[in-house]
Amino acid sequence: RTVDGRGGVLLPGFVDLHTHVREPGREDTETIATGSAAAARGGYTAIFAMANTSPVADNAAITDLVWRIGQEVGLVDVHPVGAVTVGLAGKQLAEMGMMADGAAKVKLFSDDGKCVHDPVLMKRALEYSSGLGVLISQHSEDPRLTEGAVAHDGPTAARLGLAGWPRAAEESIVARDALLARDAGARVHVAHASTEGTVSLLRWAREQGIDITAEVTPHHLLLDDSRLETYDGVNRVNPPLREDRDKLALRRALAEGVIDCVATDHAPHAAQEKCCEFSQAKPGMLGLETALSVIVETMVRPGLLDWRGVARVMSERPAQIVGLDDQGRPLEVGEPGNLTVVDPDAEWVVEPAELASKSRNTPYAAMTLPGRVTLTVLRGTVTAE
Ligand code: NCD
Ligand code: ZN
Ligand code: ZN
Repeated sequence: RTVDGRGGVLLPGFVDLHTHVREPGREDTETIATGSAAAARGGYTAIFAMANTSPVADNAAITDLVWRIGQEVGLVDVHPVGAVTVGLAGKQLAEMGMMADGAAKVKLFSDDGKCVHDPVLMKRALEYSSGLGVLISQHSEDPRLTEGAVAHDGPTAARLGLAGWPRAAEESIVARDALLARDAGARVHVAHASTEGTVSLLRWAREQGIDITAEVTPHHLLLDDSRLETYDGVNRVNPPLREDRDKLALRRALAEGVIDCVATDHAPHAAQEKCCEFSQAKPGMLGLETALSVIVETMVRPGLLDWRGVARVMSERPAQIVGLDDQGRPLEVGEPGNLTVVDPDAEWVVEPAELASKSRNTPYAAMTLPGRVTLTVLRGTVTAE
């Protein structure tokens, strides 16, 4: 059929390198089906499903299952991320080669769940990955510096009596893993960069010729720790919401290409896991259905990115980073495409009850956001409109 996209902005289908879909294990909060629906509504045609499921995605039986269920649902390509170690806090490397060779063709591995605290294990993982030609997503924070921490270690947390999570917890591990990647000749991808110092380290590592890429979440571009005044658990996330100057440095870095792409870190949680006292709330926020609008608000409206730039950070760069050859590029004539149409002038009020996600923990409830995905097409088939 003919689709009328008049007045809209036509973009390549978005690619999210960092989504938690909670299947297997916590299907009460999100399934591959509901996560796929949320992704399609958000304009995504490919998502990377994080490995911190239950059981952990540390073997090919699980990664192949996730891929197969995603294909059966058929709304978005669900690429499983493999765990670097066996189990979340594993002391042993997972069979990354078998996952890479399986039906899912795993391209991205993560120390999700903060499992590679051990620098020797991370060193071995990077050496192993360079032989396989796959990418490791650096996801750790220094465990001693983040023990018990719930909020950015700054004046706001101090005033509110919340245990502080310092910038150094992130930056020290980014530096460590950049250096380990250099020595191993490996590629490393920095998950959810959240500080001004991480931006400086990325610049420095690139100057040294280190093969490093990085992502930033929409919430770290829009929100900061001034949101914590209400003690609302919805604002608890790892890494924590930082300060204004971090936010502005992250926006500039994304505009300049020092940070390569946007990744949602979509992290669904049950209502009872988020409604409690701030320090007891589980960390994580929804992101798939609001990402494009937050990018319009923080990057397009202030003139930091044009629509060409939006295509770059939402689709082309993430596809290149993981080597997807069917996403984020111009179409051949007659080829069934992966496309997203955005209404650039739309304004909408985020209503949690209307989200396709099974969870409701969006930090943007009742906020008016600009720009809206009006159509998503996966290989020629409409997946959301
Ligand atoms: C993640 C989750 O919920 O799986 N939460 C988050 O705040 N990003 C796990 C984590 O990274 O802590
Ligand atoms: Zn994380
Ligand atoms: Zn995550």
